[in-house]
Amino acid sequence: MFLDVVILAAGKGTRMRSARAKVLHTIGGKPMLQHVLDTARQLAPRQICPVIGHQGDEVRDAIDDSTLTWVEQAQQLGTGHAVREAMAHVAGDGVVLVLYGDVPLIGETTLKTAVSVATSGQVGLVTSVFADPAELGRIVRNAQGDVVRIVEFKDADEATRQINEINSGIVAVPSADLNRWLNQLDTDNAQGELYLTDIIEMAVNDGKKVTSIAAQPHEVIGVNDRVQLAEVERLYQAQQTETLMRAGTTMQDPSRVDIRGEITVGEDCLFDVNVVLEGKVVLGDRVQLGPGVVIKDSVIGDGTVVHAYTTIDGATVAAECSLGPFARIRPLTVLDEGVRIGNFVETKKSHLGAGSKANHLAYLGDATLGRDCNVGAGAITANYDGVNKYETHAGDNVFVGTNVTMVAPLNLQDWAFLAAGSTVTNDVGENDLAVARGKQRVIRKWTRPDQAAAKKKAGD
Ligand code: UD1
Ligand code: CA
Repeated sequence: MFLDVVILAAGKGTRMRSARAKVLHTIGGKPMLQHVLDTARQLAPRQICPVIGHQGDEVRDAIDDSTLTWVEQAQQLGTGHAVREAMAHVAGDGVVLVLYGDVPLIGETTLKTAVSVATSGQVGLVTSVFADPAELGRIVRNAQGDVVRIVEFKDADEATRQINEINSGIVAVPSADLNRWLNQLDTDNAQGELYLTDIIEMAVNDGKKVTSIAAQPHEVIGVNDRVQLAEVERLYQAQQTETLMRAGTTMQDPSRVDIRGEITVGEDCLFDVNVVLEGKVVLGDRVQLGPGVVIKDSVIGDGTVVHAYTTIDGATVAAECSLGPFARIRPLTVLDEGVRIGNFVETKKSHLGAGSKANHLAYLGDATLGRDCNVGAGAITANYDGVNKYETHAGDNVFVGTNVTMVAPLNLQDWAFLAAGSTVTNDVGENDLAVARGKQRVIRKWTRPDQAAAKKKAGD
């Protein structure tokens, strides 16, 4: 049976008080609508139709996915109207699943259940029981406990408002039935809108069964303002950290870890507090992340220790390395096994061979170093002339003394030794020592300025 997914996202989102479209606000670093799209994709639908209206162009540009059937709802005349606009693009031979762009945590299992209900010719309605159902639509059941209709809060009498079971808005319906019911909708209600929810009573009147699928409140919570956005973010983070803990990661405090991407972990990783992981991050076994570590789009090998307040972006780090505290590892850095990068060291587009070290206050940009090199405190590559970037290449066992400026382009052969304080502008051969600094001059028995005499003179 064909499945078509309709995602409602045309509303204004006034309560966000934002210049940005509501469904583009992010949860775990990803737009809410993208969460819904990714979950919908899991169901292998024939087509996904997001319905857009307010800031629609912005939404379409940001999501930038040519496989989607974008539907424009010029005027927001209600959820029923929105689905009707979408149905103009949907063949009537399958089932339709209606999702909301601002309900990002809906789960694949719940949706699969709803779709299978619709596939069997019934209506699959996702409901939940809320302690505080606020202004959500209420599920009305008959004496046998069957769903008979949905009543919107604004249309509900006091008794109906006491009902705690709410309409999530998510529903799966056989397409042909849906088309028929949508054509019968009217605006005879408190908001003068075409309510999608009215199809439930129509279904019952047509002798169709409405099967409810009970979802956990956290799955169907919608985002209308930034307070709810933060609540949903916390729920999402709790899910992510739970997944990582179940995969074998110890967290000192899971409530102080933030996951904004797709993270893969080996076993026995250890996260201290305030770790932030973004994009695609792959950690091997026994990786330790100290407090305040931020890692984006990187691969970290087994047993590597990342000390406090180190940031890593776009890097490939092998096993048994030690990074930080306070290191900045920038894109295209490749560190081989056992590399040690210490405090206030920055690397960019650089490859350090196994066992090489830069333990303090260094900058390595556009550089390749072989094995077992040592870069002293304050050593830097001068890789930029204001226009072009130049490379520094070092072989194995190169020793770079403290405060050396390596002016690129530069080639340093195996066992080259650069003396402390040198500004090295020419290539250095194997086993050669380069000293490029002012020669020390000694003035013997020099007389220091006399402070008392200077003061006395000033007073005169
Ligand atoms: C709707 C349901 C309510 C349910 C609640 C769950 C109806 C009539 N009511 O109420 O039973 O408990 O959702 O959150 O369906 N939208 C459009 N075009 C429109 C109107 C809305 O795309 O013309 C989109 C909105 O962007 C939003 C979603 O549909 O993503 C829900 O709209 P909203 O106005 O929030 O519906 P509620 O009144 O909250
Ligand atoms: Ca809403």
